[in-house]
Amino acid sequence: MITFRDVTKEYPNGTVALCGRAPQPGMPQEKGMNLHIASREFVFVVGASGAGKSTFLKLLLHEEVPTSGSICVGQFELNNLTRKQIPMYRRQLGMVFQDFRLIANMNVYDNIAFAMRVVGARDKVIRERVVYLLQLVGLSHKVHSKPSELSGGEQQRVAIARALANNPDLIIADEPTGNIDPRMSQELLDLFVRLNEAGTTVVMVTHAHDLVRQYNKRIIILENGSVVADGVFRRPEETRRQYA
Ligand SMILES: Nc1ncnc2c1ncn2[C@@H]1O[C@H](COP(=O)(O)OP(=O)(O)O)[C@@H](O)[C@H]1O
Ligand SMILES: [Mg+2]
Repeated sequence: MITFRDVTKEYPNGTVALCGRAPQPGMPQEKGMNLHIASREFVFVVGASGAGKSTFLKLLLHEEVPTSGSICVGQFELNNLTRKQIPMYRRQLGMVFQDFRLIANMNVYDNIAFAMRVVGARDKVIRERVVYLLQLVGLSHKVHSKPSELSGGEQQRVAIARALANNPDLIIADEPTGNIDPRMSQELLDLFVRLNEAGTTVVMVTHAHDLVRQYNKRIIILENGSVVADGVFRRPEETRRQYA
């Protein structure tokens, strides 16, 4: 689904935001970031502020282009995307942001429907899909509410419903629990896990380390622009049980 080959990113001011891992004993110096995320995987990307997490997502969204290397997402080779293909490429991704990015003067229904109208979906199809999505995220009773009338967790669930509107194969979330209290964060993560179990690939950037460790999912750790760890780090109690 996603492949990074020797990807580096240096911003015009000379800041190197993504690069290969420092030389390891017996291993050649990497030319850049290399990773593969399979279809239907659930991946957390974690790392300190400045580690390169947002740059990684911007490259995925084609908001920034690599300085060297190549990125494949689905059938798209991002280096070869034409200007005309970019909107089409982005529409087949579901994006969820820390600050929700709902349209303030539209109610919940229209916030979700809007994403389908821009791709020319018919009203009847939109109606059925919005009803289904609101049920999925548990907000059917808020269909007429404006974003300002919802809690942070509710707004984020609307944003997730909107991200799902056009049935994407891949959901990319940038700190989706950043503005949400811990109990709601847990519920949101559970929702992402259910979406993933239903077949959607999920890539989630987060600094909620404690929360992440409760899930036995793949975690990619970024440090100074490179991948320093990548794997499933099991819960301590499970590790104990396994080896007891
Ligand atoms: N547009 C930019 N121009 C110059 N430097 C940038 C830009 N965006 C990010 N950086 C720098 O790149 C590095 C990685 O940033 P970023 O990807 O935002 O990290 P994170 O999201 O993990 O906090 C940081 O040193 C940051 O200051
Ligand atoms: Mg960031």
